[in-house]
Amino acid sequence: MRACDDAVMGIVLRVATSDDHDQLWTLFATAMMFDSTSSDLDRELFEPERALVATDGDLVVGTAKALSRDLSVPGAVVPAAHVTAVGVQATHRRRGILSSLMSRQLREAPEALAVLWASEAAIYGRFGYAAAAWNVSYEVNPHRVLPTPGPRGADRVEELTAEDAAVQLPALLRALQESRPGVSGRSELLWRKRLQDKPEDRGGATPRKILVHRDATGAVDGYALWRGKMSWVAEGPANEVVLEELVAVDPIAYHALWHHVLTLDLVGKIQYNHAAPDEPVQQLVANPSALVRRVGESLWVRLTDVSRALAQRRYATAVDVVLEVTDDLIEHNNGRFHLTGDLQNATCGRTEAAADLSLSVRELSATYLGGRSLGEYAATGKVTEHTPGALAATAAALGWPTAPKSIEIF
Ligand SMILES: CC(C)(COP(=O)(O)OP(=O)(O)OC[C@H]1O[C@@H](n2cnc3c(N)ncnc32)[C@H](O)[C@@H]1OP(=O)(O)O)[C@@H](O)C(=O)NCCC(=O)NCCS
Repeated sequence: MRACDDAVMGIVLRVATSDDHDQLWTLFATAMMFDSTSSDLDRELFEPERALVATDGDLVVGTAKALSRDLSVPGAVVPAAHVTAVGVQATHRRRGILSSLMSRQLREAPEALAVLWASEAAIYGRFGYAAAAWNVSYEVNPHRVLPTPGPRGADRVEELTAEDAAVQLPALLRALQESRPGVSGRSELLWRKRLQDKPEDRGGATPRKILVHRDATGAVDGYALWRGKMSWVAEGPANEVVLEELVAVDPIAYHALWHHVLTLDLVGKIQYNHAAPDEPVQQLVANPSALVRRVGESLWVRLTDVSRALAQRRYATAVDVVLEVTDDLIEHNNGRFHLTGDLQNATCGRTEAAADLSLSVRELSATYLGGRSLGEYAATGKVTEHTPGALAATAAALGWPTAPKSIEIF
């Protein structure tokens, strides 16, 4: 990694002010090659004190932002720096500006961990990030998938307006955070952004439909956001449905919402880009092979404070282990840590005791959400076992019954 000073060859880093918003938006949009102007809502969401700006004289040439959001981790919901809008002006690439931005952002983050979605997976490992959750994209031919019959009780699926959704849906997302690691919380502002439906963002599709499931008492216990696009092939109608988000806190609601979407008329293709590897809909169709899957990384995790982060989550089985950790970016993460924990509690602090396992912050970050196993890293020598049995016991404790799932790209 290059030297990570605040000044790289005449480049100076500073914290943003609210006046920087438009310029940073344009810089990032240009770097990512999307054409979009920011709205008042984007300005409201901007946290200048959490944005870094790289300047070359009067020119703004790089930025990295973080959003203050919470994240579900095994057994808890904790603050996590949600890193976003990372970009360096094309004329200033490969001079170490990103390295400077990342180093400073990680060292100064008040949270014990940072998370991001990477557009380019090759970039972030060098900064101690590791892919900690898998994202599965489904492309479904509804005529081949053969859904099992939906629930037939007094429950029902109905549409909601965006105004009513803003009131009803937040509690469901919070409930999902209780059962799944990897889910980012949304403030009221972020919900407004999520439910925005600007015609210019629809890409030729219909306005967004907001479905909710009501149980027999009328209580809302699940929702789905989707839109459709008209399409015809030689055989007839083959409309496309994009299922943007489906959240249910009850098995009947989950089944009913999926059944509704999978049986929509005139549809030839359903796209759902945020399934988990253990997405339960696989059990609700007779032909799961027709859920054609593409697997990629979703959340990249970087522990910025190892002992605080390890004490913040819970453990699937009782654990009592000394970890020797190395971190070449954040000094206080180096050393030996005594971790104890179970499903209810966890503690982690420095120790002089001999290590049971040695590993770097990257392996701890990869396994933090319970979606990857330490065994995978032992197989390539990145985790070393000093005490026989410590690897299996710690890997089991770090695991979790449900795979982590990030339901939105931020
Ligand atoms: C990606 C980007 C931020 C890199 O910025 P940069 O200032 O050129 O990066 P640096 O010079 O600090 O490079 C740091 C390291 O990352 C590597 N790197 C940079 N961009 C890379 C890429 N796209 N793919 C793979 N490696 C990359 C560099 O080679 C360098 O490696 P080294 O430490 O082994 O020398 C910049 O090119 C950019 O804005 N690209 C378009 C937008 C984008 O991709 N944003 C990231 C969204 S997740």
